Amino acid sequence: MSEDQKPVKFFEPPVYLSEADIATRVRELAQRINETYGDQEITAICTLKGSVVFYSDLLRHLKMPVVCEFLGVSSYGNHTESTGEVKVTLDLNEPLTGRHVLIVEDIVDTGLTLSYLISYLKVKNPASLRTAALLFKPEALKSPELRIDYIGFEIPNRFVVGYGLDYAEKFRGLPYIGTLN
Ligand code: PRP
Repeated sequence: MSEDQKPVKFFEPPVYLSEADIATRVRELAQRINETYGDQEITAICTLKGSVVFYSDLLRHLKMPVVCEFLGVSSYGNHTESTGEVKVTLDLNEPLTGRHVLIVEDIVDTGLTLSYLISYLKVKNPASLRTAALLFKPEALKSPELRIDYIGFEIPNRFVVGYGLDYAEKFRGLPYIGTLN
């Protein structure tokens, strides 16, 4: 077989959290969220882009009526460390006044993004504001006052990709969470 006929082998990061582990934990988080809100309608905000996979899996286990909203935020650009500067790249469609709002984040690393989002959304006068994050890196946290209501996994300070999380826009489609050195 000549060089240009060989199938391209993409790099597959080692598994840190398997598809099965993630699925189990997402169901558990959804159950806790269902217990909190009961039949109350909520607005669940997906913070693009990283949360898209977690959000869509979580959504399918929520039992209350959910209005879906999408908010584009970016703080990393193509860097592996937060720039600390949060940019809203896509804004919400509907007002949040009097709504029960749940922010859905893929990862809380320094916490700067979620802290920024909480201030950004609080002034829109929601009836309540809660936060869910699939991954949380306590060692990297720079916003000690940050409150996360639902945490999937606490993880060490390593760079993780997959299940929506990227490195320079790559690996978002991996069905599991892997680590990069
Ligand atoms: C990632 C992730 C969180 C944020 C967490 O977003 O989705 O929103 O970083 O980091 P922090 O706690 O240090 O602020 P990113 O800016 O990479 O954009 P993306 O979601 O489009 O990948």
